[in-house]
Amino acid sequence: MRQDIERILFTEEQLKGRIAELGAQITADYRDRNPIFVGVLKGCFVFMADLLRCVDVYCTMDFMSVSSYGDGVTSTGAVKITKDLSRDIAGRHVIIVEDILDSGITLSYLKKYLSVRNPASISIVTLLDKPSRRRADISADYSGFEVEDAFVVGYGLDYAEEYRNLPYIGILKSEVYSK
Ligand code: PRP
Repeated sequence: MRQDIERILFTEEQLKGRIAELGAQITADYRDRNPIFVGVLKGCFVFMADLLRCVDVYCTMDFMSVSSYGDGVTSTGAVKITKDLSRDIAGRHVIIVEDILDSGITLSYLKKYLSVRNPASISIVTLLDKPSRRRADISADYSGFEVEDAFVVGYGLDYAEEYRNLPYIGILKSEVYSK
């Protein structure tokens, strides 16, 4: 699997350091607000697990499944909710947790979808941000790293459902997805 990686973009140590900073920021901002973290599966699972262990406030968590990509490398533009929240979020401070903000179509849809449930606030934390690819008018409140327009995998991010278990973020060799 690792031979398919062209270049490592963020090592385990870099991820750990930056995520600790994000956790500290969220801890300072959400003290006494009892936020609910909403992870967007599946890409969020590694980041969310590490981030939440760096957050020192009373909080709860829930998950949604939203699918906007097929097995290809670019968004189809269609967003499908395949798993909704299990609890009401009215009056709660919601923090959506994403692995990557790319075109922004997923998060922009999700933010609107959740806002009609009357949460006290909604903010977004994303590990990676690819602003050069943005198509929807949306930005993250907390962002780990800005990334170039390359196909990145690992640490939760997949290509055709694989590579999520890489412990770092790397650029996939183009021959892998142009096969
Ligand atoms: C990825 C990622 C975001 C979305 C970002 O999800 O986790 O949800 O794409 O892209 P956008 O900003 O262009 O909308 P994907 O649909 O690949 O599912 P996954 O989380 O299961 O990998």
